[in-house]
Amino acid sequence: MAKIKTSFFCQNCGTQFAKWQGQCTSCKEWNTIVEEVIQKPEKTSWKTNDTKSLRISKPLKVSEIDTSKEARIDLRDSEFNRVLGGGMVKGSLILLGGEPGIGKSTLLLQIALRVKHKILYVSGEESQKQIKMRAERINPNSDNCYILTETKTQNIFKQIENLQPEIIIIDSIQTLHSDYIESSAGSISQIKECTSELIKFAKETATPVLLIGHITKDGNIAGPKILEHMVDTVLQFEGDRNHVFRILRANKNRFGSTNELGIYEMQGSGLREVSNPSEILISEKDGELSGNAVAATLEGLRPLMIEVQALVSTAVYGTPQRSATGFNAKRLNMLLAILEKRAGFRLGAKDVFLNITGGITVDDPAIDLAIIAAILSSNEDVPIQSDYCFAAEIGLSGEIRPVQRIEQRILEAEKLGFKAIFVSKYSKLPESSYQLGIHKISKIEDLVEIIL
Ligand code: TYD
Ligand code: MG
Repeated sequence: MAKIKTSFFCQNCGTQFAKWQGQCTSCKEWNTIVEEVIQKPEKTSWKTNDTKSLRISKPLKVSEIDTSKEARIDLRDSEFNRVLGGGMVKGSLILLGGEPGIGKSTLLLQIALRVKHKILYVSGEESQKQIKMRAERINPNSDNCYILTETKTQNIFKQIENLQPEIIIIDSIQTLHSDYIESSAGSISQIKECTSELIKFAKETATPVLLIGHITKDGNIAGPKILEHMVDTVLQFEGDRNHVFRILRANKNRFGSTNELGIYEMQGSGLREVSNPSEILISEKDGELSGNAVAATLEGLRPLMIEVQALVSTAVYGTPQRSATGFNAKRLNMLLAILEKRAGFRLGAKDVFLNITGGITVDDPAIDLAIIAAILSSNEDVPIQSDYCFAAEIGLSGEIRPVQRIEQRILEAEKLGFKAIFVSKYSKLPESSYQLGIHKISKIEDLVEIIL
């Protein structure tokens, strides 16, 4: 019997070591190095009788390289296509990460049931019956989608050779294992090996592969960081599980921009593409309520009108509470300090609660002005007109600062029927005329004067 070979891998960055040590010299993490069994045969190819890999590539002039073959596959899901940069490139490897239960399997199964290409959905997590039950909720009649429950890569490649699918979906990379490596599924060396087999397969046959990846509790894709380096595209599916909205974004894309964003709504019959998110994010209400303001924000390249709600009340206990949902609490404290110091509002003895509706988290600084407006409105108990919206950042000295792509925000507000938008005095606006009124302000006092 051959001697079992082992090696030590850092579970954080994937670096291999000859012996155990307390700290990884590569990523400087402590206690991340674990012993794993490895067994490398001479040949670790996806095919057993491999002849193609003998081919040696030659240097070519850039102008000589043929790109016409890079036709994109239409996935018949406009949000997904957009995030990928206009469809899936043949031979590319796409990794989709997200929290458990967020809808990764649902999203990819839905695509599998929809496309017109022959597609193989390999699941290592659910049985064929379970997948069928899920498929019945989404779209029961599809002739192109094949389901395989298998976790061994060699068996999967055997089935692929028989079936010759045009697209492959793997749910999930952490459940796969290869015969060439002896450690358990989900370990660093298995993930690395299975991914490299899949990459080799994808590049040699020009078949695109979609991988689902689990994430760790701090939000990174489980497995070595090199996993993200190896694949062509890394997508992230996120949202609050208790809310219906899901956002698909590209963290890395070799074939398109990472600014695009897809928005879905989770329904009883799968995920619905949301082509006009602003309409849903602004809640319907009778009459005007104090403490509500609408911000014209941008998520990636997409304008999104988001409603901000604030509640300011006298603190019952000694220390006033400050809490924010969907917004950075530290930034909220900073905005409150600016209101206190620069605009003379005494909020020190008040509780302040802030909520971004729809369960989304906003990083765009352009939301600052709407937050201040909502807080002031709640504090004074004066409602803001529901057809007003805001787009500006607040500086530490209370100045209203311009934000990027202001024109796009104005156009979105106009499209949705807003009557006025508040922007910074220093915003560079093109010389065109808009139907909505543009209020240019430079200080918080100006805002107070107009809305209160
Ligand atoms: P799932 O795709 O299994 O998540 P993941 O693969 O990311 O772990 O999604 C599961 C959740 O989606 C589950 O809690 C139920 C919900 N769901 C719907 O609301 N409607 C549907 O049509 C389907 C299929 C799932
Ligand atoms: Mg799943």
